[in-house]
Amino acid sequence: MQRILITGGAGFIGSHLADELLDHGYMVKVLDNLCPQVHGENAKAPEYLSSEVEFVYGDVRDMTAVRKAMQGMDAVFHLAASVGVGQSMYEIAPYTSTNNYGTSILCQCIADGCTIGKLIVASSMSIYGEGSYVDPDGLTVPSAVRSAAQLRAGKWELLTAEGKELRPVPTAEGKQPDLASIYALSKYDQERMCLITGTAYNVPTAALRLFNVFGTRQALSNPYTGVLAIFASRLLNDNAPMIYEDGRQRRDFVSVRDVVRAMRLVLENPDARDDVYNIGSGRSYAIVEVAAMLAGVMEKSIDPLITGKYRVGDIRHCFADISKAQSVLGYTPSIALADGLYELTEWLGDQISVDRVEAANQQLTSRGLTL
Ligand SMILES: NC(=O)c1ccc[n+]([C@@H]2O[C@H](COP(=O)([O-])OP(=O)(O)OC[C@H]3O[C@@H](n4cnc5c(N)ncnc54)[C@H](O)[C@@H]3O)[C@@H](O)[C@H]2O)c1
Repeated sequence: MQRILITGGAGFIGSHLADELLDHGYMVKVLDNLCPQVHGENAKAPEYLSSEVEFVYGDVRDMTAVRKAMQGMDAVFHLAASVGVGQSMYEIAPYTSTNNYGTSILCQCIADGCTIGKLIVASSMSIYGEGSYVDPDGLTVPSAVRSAAQLRAGKWELLTAEGKELRPVPTAEGKQPDLASIYALSKYDQERMCLITGTAYNVPTAALRLFNVFGTRQALSNPYTGVLAIFASRLLNDNAPMIYEDGRQRRDFVSVRDVVRAMRLVLENPDARDDVYNIGSGRSYAIVEVAAMLAGVMEKSIDPLITGKYRVGDIRHCFADISKAQSVLGYTPSIALADGLYELTEWLGDQISVDRVEAANQQLTSRGLTL
């Protein structure tokens, strides 16, 4: 495995993956259409993308471009996607086009004879919907959901039929998917399409269910993705981070540097195939806690604004059980959240960010997508 194609490789995770692979002796090609929401209008390949990368401007939905980009490649990382839970709920056709149809083009190229040694697709924790829960007796709850009535009443936690709170526990790969947004549906479609195609054409394939990835190069002016980038953008502009519900929802924040190491481990491990792996930090933090940590590191005394609203498609708690990635891949996260936030803040010092969060929230509200 020497020559690697990364679709969406000019983005946040893809560019770090390119660095990781180059550092380990691989040749890297990137296919990316420099989506304006991520890279700005009429963008060129971003400066952070290593000059050693062969950059190909192209769309993953363009069969000719994809087939050409795949020629001579030993493996493909498929990262190109429209990324954002909230936005996917009103940009349904564009999300489905990029994510579902784009992946079908890649798989069609494999079916048509583009031979590659491995296919690795970036899936997402969003496919789980709610994470795993146990009831007050410690028994696993197979499928937990919140009713619209309880959300309207501001009762955020998941409850038993008797109204007792369920306790969130780490979510393992065996949890039944519960697709709560168009984005989640498209990510599940991507992973299944790649796994089915991989099995049919004997291409070892793995899907990585990434949790909340954070780090340098995440698009700060994109108000739809990356909660830490969104908070950073608000704070850079001296605005309060806006938090849905009561801020106590828990997530798993994993450094992009740990994520790309996990991706390389999957590439290099012949046993990592025809399967899905959670890639997170294995720890959980309340969103409000993370907002306070970031403000502290950025030396901003700005408290978050707790909106007390629910956003359609959001879930309450989800954090990773990473034991499978640990045992199969030897993956151990090495960057603590606090250290990762310092690294992020150093990078923020050179960044200009347009804060588009309020306009994005307005879009959701005007369409009735917040309660
Ligand atoms: N960031 C996270 O926390 C996270 C979590 C779970 C999964 N993921 C997945 O990881 C992958 C990378 O995410 P990211 O955070 O780096 O996002 P990103 O937006 O920074 O990168 C995505 C890249 O894909 C490109 N792209 C979009 N549409 C394209 C198209 N039609 N053709 C070619 N390129 C296209 C964009 O220009 C961008 O460079 C995505 O598949 C995403 O769903 C990310």
